Amino acid sequence: MFDKLLIPIEEYINKNYYILFSDHFKKDWFDLLKQYNFSKYVIITDDNVYHFYKNLINQLENELSIAKILIRPAGEEFKHLKYTQEVFEDLIRWEIDRKSCIIALGGGVIGDFAGFIASTILRGIAFIQIPTTLLAMVDSSVGGKVAVNVDIGKNMVGSFYQPKVVLCNIDFLNTLPDKEWICGLAEIVKHSLLNKHVYQNFKNIVWNHPDYKKWDFSLWNQVIYESIKVKAEVVSKDEKESGLRSILNLGHTVAHAIESLTNYKVFSHGEAVSRGLVTALLLSKKKFQLSEEIINEVFKIMQLLKLPLDTADLDGSKIAEHLVYDKKNLHGKIKYIYLEDIGKPVYDQELDINDFLVVWQEQKKLFG
Ligand SMILES: NC(=O)c1ccc[n+]([C@@H]2O[C@H](COP(=O)([O-])OP(=O)(O)OC[C@H]3O[C@@H](n4cnc5c(N)ncnc54)[C@H](O)[C@@H]3O)[C@@H](O)[C@H]2O)c1
Repeated sequence: MFDKLLIPIEEYINKNYYILFSDHFKKDWFDLLKQYNFSKYVIITDDNVYHFYKNLINQLENELSIAKILIRPAGEEFKHLKYTQEVFEDLIRWEIDRKSCIIALGGGVIGDFAGFIASTILRGIAFIQIPTTLLAMVDSSVGGKVAVNVDIGKNMVGSFYQPKVVLCNIDFLNTLPDKEWICGLAEIVKHSLLNKHVYQNFKNIVWNHPDYKKWDFSLWNQVIYESIKVKAEVVSKDEKESGLRSILNLGHTVAHAIESLTNYKVFSHGEAVSRGLVTALLLSKKKFQLSEEIINEVFKIMQLLKLPLDTADLDGSKIAEHLVYDKKNLHGKIKYIYLEDIGKPVYDQELDINDFLVVWQEQKKLFG
């Protein structure tokens, strides 16, 4: 059982921070928050999280010198640049100062939005992440990317800004709606593919306990801890995504194209990533001879987790049109992450559209 993980951002040694784990909001965590001696705290959350966790928020309010609780409407559409001005003005009206701290209590939307506000208000004040979705625990609260959307693209305005600490309370998962599990699980599968040891452990857990809804704290603790560790190790070597960090986009190139083709309205991000991972495995077989045995094993894991593997009847050539617009592309070439083996991603590669079209047909034949 693990209860803390140090995230080393090597280039900026003073930016190291801890992710602390528990199955409840520990007394030590309140004590830790008090010890920081921030002049005031502002909790930014959304209305769903507020509904479920009013008691915790009240408790935080009582324990800390919280100036305000800012309850935002839930949803990706509210992670938009146009809503930042009203929040900046509220915070300035509430006399937030450079020694204040913002607590992001919520999923990835709140983490990204509140983190962006913290990174820019008064040229940057402290912030703390309390992730409440599985995706936020294993992905968005780790790595220090904060951003908001603009009309022409998601996450286009943002920065790299590390939190002071991340408080990961697995108990939040008890109220998570079904569709949100897929988003976190797809990223957990992706992380496992990047590390042999983590993959073996994860495979054994899924094999022996296929119903993740019945996993107890110690299983979740191991899965979340190891998943974060994979991401943290990558980020610590390449905080600003100059090379290695791009391996975290495994499966995401096609996922982004699927989301963009369907105007972000048909599939959740996790449903798109899951399908994109299938494509990435099949393309890796074609280009880097990733073994059939491994691919089938991963498909089995994904099926046990009830992740979607099919093409949803989407037209490959339409997806291809959207592949070209991915913001990670350089000089019109489609950048793509392949896998040579579990734990051996290959980055800085190009995707040949014809290969994609062939593999998309193969995916359709295999899974519909
Ligand atoms: N910064 C990064 O590195 C990074 C990485 C991946 C994703 N992201 C971003 O994360 C966002 C997606 O995050 P998400 O999947 O957490 O979505 P989200 O924040 O929209 O949360 C999903 C839904 O679950 C609700 N919710 C949250 N916690 C809950 C709980 N414990 N119980 C019940 N309901 C709860 C929310 O109100 C929301 O309706 C996207 O904007 C994406 O761009 C950022």
